[in-house]
Parts: sequence; structure tokens; C-alpha cells
Amino acid sequence: MKFFIDTADTDEIKDLAATGMVDGVTTNPSLAATSGKSFIELITEICAVVDGPVSAEVTATDFPTMMKEAEVLRKIADNVAIKVPLIPDGLKACKALTDDGTMVNVTLCFSPAQALLTAKAGATFVSPFVGRLDDIGADGMGLIDEICNIYANYDYETEVLVASIRSPMHVVEAARMGAHVATMPPKTLRQLYQHPLTDKGLKAFLDDWTKSGQSILG
Ligand code: E4P
Repeated sequence: MKFFIDTADTDEIKDLAATGMVDGVTTNPSLAATSGKSFIELITEICAVVDGPVSAEVTATDFPTMMKEAEVLRKIADNVAIKVPLIPDGLKACKALTDDGTMVNVTLCFSPAQALLTAKAGATFVSPFVGRLDDIGADGMGLIDEICNIYANYDYETEVLVASIRSPMHVVEAARMGAHVATMPPKTLRQLYQHPLTDKGLKAFLDDWTKSGQSILG
């Protein structure tokens, strides 16, 4: 499973990229608006740190303007994935861009029907938002299961990029279902490492070692 981080905080991206666990980055207009940088500057900076796909979202909602914005964004770096909303013009742009060899992430997916349309449009990634579904009392992870099953029926190449993740269990369940990618806030990636028995066990090992008076380095 690939791990993307969902943030526009470049310090966090640099810090987590150094762990070797970051396969890509997703941003959205709300996250970008909080970065204090121009969007072009922000995406350029992220692409210089992470080799994998970096999602940069268009803000137009009509096909011609989306294509113009995509043209600007995809020139930033080879690893830019153009993010488009799951609306008719977004899927039209998705088809045109992927036909032209550009990676496309279709965002704001909330139903299996929308995910099916996205695969037919040739998207590189579909982003179903699990947390936002859970927020309204729906079953976010159930949607991931349905999409994974539907895509497997047809061998679609579109990768399921689980988005709007709120906890480590979302990541683990997504992996169990065979989703290709999980994009998560930096905090969730850090939480994946944590287990109280690891901390307790390590402390006991090191206390015993200290008592022995030995050192591996002599
Ligand atoms: C994904 O690409 C989105 O930016 C993100 O996962 C949205 O998450 P949120 O629902 O926590 O805002």
C-alpha cells in the first residue's frame, strides 16, 4: 500500500519524507489557502521534496478553464497529478488529460456510481472521502470495499486513493480491503508507529542493558 500525506505544510512534508514512508502528497484548495504561499510556489516546493505523485487541484468548474489551469500546474514538475472534482466537466478534463499522459486524481467521490464513472474516464486515482461520509452517519469504509470490488470485476487501472482519513484504523481497514493508496494527515502517519507495548518493551530492554554496563560500540 502506498502512503500519501494530505497537507500543505512543507515542514511536515520534509520531516515525514525523511522517514522513507511517504510515496506522494495530496493537497486541496482549503489546505493550500492556509499555507501562506502562492499555489505555484507551494506545489513547486513539494515536488522538489517528494518524487511520487503530488496532487494539485484545479479551481475552475468548466472544462476549458480546467484545462488551462491544468496546463499551468502540470508544467511545474513531472510528478504533478492534476486533481479535478467529480463533476461532468471534471471527468471530461480527466479523460483529456490522461489521454495526454498526465496523472489525474478525481476528488470528492462519495458513491460507487461516481467511482465507476471515474474509472471509465481513465483516472489515475479516485479519491473517496471516508471521514466526511462517517461525519454524516454513512459508512465511509463500506464505500471503499464496494469500489475495490467493482474495480476488481473489470480490472480497471484506476487506483483507489482513500481520502479524508481520520484515524490509523481507517488506514488498516483500507489495506485489508486492498485499496492502493491511503492519504492521511501527518498526525495519522505518526500514529501508525505507536503501540504502548513497544514503548514499554523498549524501556525494559534498555534498562536491563544499562544495568549490564556494556556498550556495543565499546
Ligand atoms: C484528499 O485529497 C483531501 O484533501 C482530504 O483527504 C480531505 O480530508 P478532510 O475531509 O479531512 O478535509
